[in-house]
Amino acid sequence: MTQPLLTLNDGSTIPQIGLGTYQAPADETAKMVETAIGVGYRHIDTAMIYRNEAGVGDGVRASGLAREQLYVTTKVWNTDQGYDETLAACGASLDRLKLDYVDLYLVHWPVPALDLYVDSWRALVRLRQEGRVRAIGVSNFNVEHLDRVIAETGVVPVVNQIECHPAFQQVAARAANAQRNVAVQSWSPLGQGELLGDPVLQSLARKHERTAAQIILRWHVQNGLIVIPKTMNAGRMRENFEIFDFALDQDDLAAIAALDRADGRMGPDPLTFR
Ligand SMILES: NC(=O)c1ccc[n+]([C@@H]2O[C@H](COP(=O)([O-])OP(=O)(O)OC[C@H]3O[C@@H](n4cnc5c(N)ncnc54)[C@H](OP(=O)(O)O)[C@@H]3O)[C@@H](O)[C@H]2O)c1
Repeated sequence: MTQPLLTLNDGSTIPQIGLGTYQAPADETAKMVETAIGVGYRHIDTAMIYRNEAGVGDGVRASGLAREQLYVTTKVWNTDQGYDETLAACGASLDRLKLDYVDLYLVHWPVPALDLYVDSWRALVRLRQEGRVRAIGVSNFNVEHLDRVIAETGVVPVVNQIECHPAFQQVAARAANAQRNVAVQSWSPLGQGELLGDPVLQSLARKHERTAAQIILRWHVQNGLIVIPKTMNAGRMRENFEIFDFALDQDDLAAIAALDRADGRMGPDPLTFR
């Protein structure tokens, strides 16, 4: 199955859909990743804090595909922030993954209380120069955090991975990222599965003879977002991947736009999370 590639601000490309692995148990991750690659996924999202990087690396190797055909993301955790600490954390992640490089390395959270995210970002710039990571980005950065790393280093993150789903659409943040040429990756794109019973999404699912999950993921894709739905189940992996052969119309998009809620956030607030 084919999938779109998006071109990022450094000229590199990223598959628009990836497999999320948060809460995938360490001993089941290799099989999960191998299965997803068999379904057609070429992009896997992990993080040090998910404690499953070793399984991701094993799954990549078990797939039998050449390394260049796959796109692997990992992230530096909050307690490893700082210049030297981030360099060391990346080395440890590569050791666990047993990979020579990752395609994308992210600062997982800004943690403003620590005030180390600019130092961490400088380390990412060096890691890219050294070839240990191919592209560098951030996650959970508000506009002020983004502007600060850009102003202090002159290097614009290729992506900002933020919570985004129909109940929390991040319209202003998406526009601010787009203005800075930063691609947005949606985490918890399915609202952690909690939005699947929504009557509007259910009705769109009936209209298009799809599932509510496919309607939601198609909404992300049509909005130019990169999506990383997580599932352990092979059938749902396939379902989530089969979103490139239909389109939502203007009425559908308007109906989904109306699901946005001021209190729709499900995860932590980047200003306070540490
Ligand atoms: N950067 C960050 O701070 C951050 C934060 C959170 C998440 N993330 C990343 O984003 C990824 C996705 O977010 P998420 O895992 O929080 O939530 P999600 O992808 O929105 O939802 C995952 C949940 O939905 C279920 N599900 C998936 N596909 C389904 C389908 N087709 N039908 C019914 N249920 C389905 C899964 O259960 P089953 O496994 O049983 O199918 C799981 O319980 C994470 O795995 C992680 O890689 C990043």
